[in-house]
Amino acid sequence: MSQVKVALIGVGNCSSSFVQGLNYYANLSSKENQIGLQNPFLGGMTPSDIQIVAAFDIDENKVGKDVSEAIFSGLNNAPKVVDVPLTGIIVSKGPPLDGVSEGIKSKIKISKKPDADVPRILKETGAEIVINLLPSGAVEASKWYANQALNAGCGFVNATPSFIASDPKWEKRFEDRGLPLAGDDLIDQVGSTALHKTLLSLLSDNGVKILETYQLDVGGGAESMDTLDRTRKVKRNIKTQSVASALPYKVEIVAGSTDYVDFLENKRDSYFWIRGNYFCNTPMQIDLKFSTVDAPNAGSVLFDVTRAMKIALNKKLKGAIIPVCAFAFKKTPQIEPIKNIKENFKKYIKENS
Ligand SMILES: NC(=O)c1ccc[n+]([C@@H]2O[C@H](COP(=O)([O-])OP(=O)(O)OC[C@H]3O[C@@H](n4cnc5c(N)ncnc54)[C@H](O)[C@@H]3O)[C@@H](O)[C@H]2O)c1
Repeated sequence: MSQVKVALIGVGNCSSSFVQGLNYYANLSSKENQIGLQNPFLGGMTPSDIQIVAAFDIDENKVGKDVSEAIFSGLNNAPKVVDVPLTGIIVSKGPPLDGVSEGIKSKIKISKKPDADVPRILKETGAEIVINLLPSGAVEASKWYANQALNAGCGFVNATPSFIASDPKWEKRFEDRGLPLAGDDLIDQVGSTALHKTLLSLLSDNGVKILETYQLDVGGGAESMDTLDRTRKVKRNIKTQSVASALPYKVEIVAGSTDYVDFLENKRDSYFWIRGNYFCNTPMQIDLKFSTVDAPNAGSVLFDVTRAMKIALNKKLKGAIIPVCAFAFKKTPQIEPIKNIKENFKKYIKENS
């Protein structure tokens, strides 16, 4: 398998963890070095086969810098876990469009550099996969970059909650162009949605009748501020629908980002409540708090999606790649039963690599 060439759209916290992870996991020779990865080897590739060839942002603190420096600049507060040597990839300026929310406007300055020729850069760098890591409210900008990926002949990964892979019109456009698409809204490696679904599925499989449940999140990254400003409702709908898919019946569910707490920095606290009845209508409840750091939670899943999309490109698979969408995203073109997701993903990798 050759290397997979990636363009990063948005050099924020997720990009920081992604790029740091590429260095952290550069040597997988021992089991010890593989700790924290879901799939150290996937389709004959390791994370070292992922190569960043282009990156775009709008923040004057990031544009014009080497990616290794930009990931620790501006509002980024993902933890630094490794020194990243110079990459030789300079962050280019993209068009701002709707990338900046009201809350962020007072905290960053948009670079005065002219907008780069994005399709030309994608073509000249040989980018194969464009990974969209724009803020969650950047709906127009996400669509604009999806168009650039189509124009440049790249596969597109939409980590944001903007509807692209789950929109049949976009899916058709990628299918017509013979390119793979995956999205929308990345699932975390140890995320609150996955934990919530697993708990509900376990209880329901064991005969518990769930009566009501919620999952409320607070975080301190720029993304949490953007969510509070613009996408709380969309994110809540996506998460609630995803959680609902874990149960074979309808129940009162609320799941979604709730608030921004600046001193949490890139940390996220999730609060879960589940109430139900088991044998002879005996009541049970779960009331728990789950704490994580946001950006590293995207790293392992992005490594897997990137390699899975390279496999799709090699095999000339086109349109939304359903086993990849189901494995790694919350809002998918079609809902798969939770039990089949990992198996289907493994089968997809095995059959196509
Ligand atoms: N674990 C996770 O962190 C996780 C999980 C699921 C989904 N996501 C999604 O991933 C996306 C990225 O999250 P993040 O925490 O890195 O966000 P972030 O706010 O830290 O980073 C976004 C970056 O995009 C840049 N940007 C804004 N407008 C732009 C434009 N028009 N062109 C180029 N760059 C632009 C910003 O300057 C910033 O550097 C979000 O949509 C989030 O919902 C993240």
